[in-house]
Amino acid sequence: MAMVCLSDFEAYAKKYLPKIAWDFFAAGADDCSTRDENILAYKRIRFRPRILRDVSVMDIRTKLLGAEISFPVGIAPTGFHQLAWPDGEKSTARAAKAMNICYIASTYSTCTLEEISTAAPGSLQWFQLYIHRNRAVSQQLVQRAEALGFQGLVLTADLPYTGKRRDDVRNGFRLPPHMKLKNLEGAFEVCKMSPSFHSLLDPSVTWNDIYWLRSLTHLPIIIKGILTKEDAELAVRHGVQGIIVSNHGGRQLDGGPATIDALVEVVEAVQGRVEVYLDGGIRKGSDVLKALALGAKCVFIGRPALWGLAYKGEEGLQDVLRILQDEFRLSMALAGCASVSEIGRHLVEFSKL
Ligand code: FNR
Repeated sequence: MAMVCLSDFEAYAKKYLPKIAWDFFAAGADDCSTRDENILAYKRIRFRPRILRDVSVMDIRTKLLGAEISFPVGIAPTGFHQLAWPDGEKSTARAAKAMNICYIASTYSTCTLEEISTAAPGSLQWFQLYIHRNRAVSQQLVQRAEALGFQGLVLTADLPYTGKRRDDVRNGFRLPPHMKLKNLEGAFEVCKMSPSFHSLLDPSVTWNDIYWLRSLTHLPIIIKGILTKEDAELAVRHGVQGIIVSNHGGRQLDGGPATIDALVEVVEAVQGRVEVYLDGGIRKGSDVLKALALGAKCVFIGRPALWGLAYKGEEGLQDVLRILQDEFRLSMALAGCASVSEIGRHLVEFSKL
């Protein structure tokens, strides 16, 4: 099967993954309106392409908190990569390194942070944290990640409780017995996804906990899950270094905005004081271009990375990234931009559709 675009990988994953794994990856909350809106919203944005602008030499590199990446796409944190491929997050880390992009490893990885960092030494890796009721668990994870050389700490802030994902409830989703949440082993007796699993997370977390995190680590803190100008302002005031506009791929509160729509007010509120990134619904190179035009410094992909892994592990994920990279470069050229610095708000408009 010729893999030409990201939806080819989606079709492959749907066909070949066990149903329970596919359903877990695909799930959105409730009737999935926000999950689907993340994708649909891109169709309402139109380019205002410029012509005759010498696009013979293209520069698609950019920087993420000072670190150079080969193009403005990274891998969003998602749990349980071994559900997609036996080597799990080690394959993800290797693919990200090969493509010279940033990989955000999830607290819920099925490989240890040590395995992830050793699989891709010297690459750009951030660690994603959920704050647990037992703060010592989170503290230990943060300090472990910093000691291992992870270069950023991503605090996911939109999951005080887990959204209601109907298919997971119907399937009674649990991790297969041979897979473990390896970073939490020893911290407490949780090796399976169970109904009580997420109740280990602390729903009482507030903005003050950013100061607590700050006291634990020198790493830059990036907050994930912001959708409003009010929270963007609070994030800046609490001293974070970056914001990821995200609705958790539509898996949390159903009925919220598409992330590409929320991006506009967040960027306006932040006024360049910190870097703003986005995830959710990125499926084409032109989506990346639209997000950058609206002010994102970089975007991250969640499900498409899992489809790539399901296709052929590290190689399959590289295929996904290469396709996205090629499509992004082509879209830029066709819109009249030869370098990322030429991308700006002038490049897009919202259609009335
Ligand atoms: C996620 N997401 C997520 N986020 C996070 O901070 N920690 C996590 O462990 C997970 N786990 C997870 C598992 C699966 C299967 C999915 C689909 C998503 C959310 C993720 O980081 C990201 O916000 C979305 O996946 C982005 O949307 P797309 O690219 O999947 O449309």
